[in-house]
Amino acid sequence: MDMENLADKKVQHIILTGFMGTGKSTIGRRLANRLNLIFIDTDHEIEKEEGKSIPEIFNQHGEDYFREVESELFIQLLSNENQKVISTGGGIILSQKNRKAMLNHQVILLEASIDEIMRRVKENENRPLLNQGVELKERISHLIQERKKYYSEVATIKVNTDDKKKEDIINEIITLLDF
Ligand code: S3P
Repeated sequence: MDMENLADKKVQHIILTGFMGTGKSTIGRRLANRLNLIFIDTDHEIEKEEGKSIPEIFNQHGEDYFREVESELFIQLLSNENQKVISTGGGIILSQKNRKAMLNHQVILLEASIDEIMRRVKENENRPLLNQGVELKERISHLIQERKKYYSEVATIKVNTDDKKKEDIINEIITLLDF
């Protein structure tokens, strides 16, 4: 078998990306169920590995440390040959190394309006980057503005989630996935 065929054989993971509050974890879990694939949530894995919650990691070690742990875990997950659905933290695309690692996988970008994101993130205080005293809407708009080029760069599939039922979002994703 030549190198090209070997490269073709590499497993394509299904990665969910998008801003905080766009539903990556919930949709990812259900999608994995439907496709009969293993589901992994990077934030959850980091919390398990570190024995701390995400806010604790940010408070005690800082964002840079969190990003290092996140990147190491993500790259390792992608190198595993068992096909998986992987939900990622909204900031995973900040690292060029992570963005590069997503090439050749299927990357689903979940999008939502700022109002919808506000509504969803208000439900819990588990997101240190949004609890910085700045007005929430302003903070979200600023971060989205900063990140949108990266989300677009990595996405192979884009799905808007506003006013859609979870089941419909999953069906839409399945019709768009390459099998
Ligand atoms: C982050 C998103 C969070 C979590 C951390 C940082 C970000 O995950 O990884 O708080 O930088 O956007 P969710 O997108 O699942 O909220």
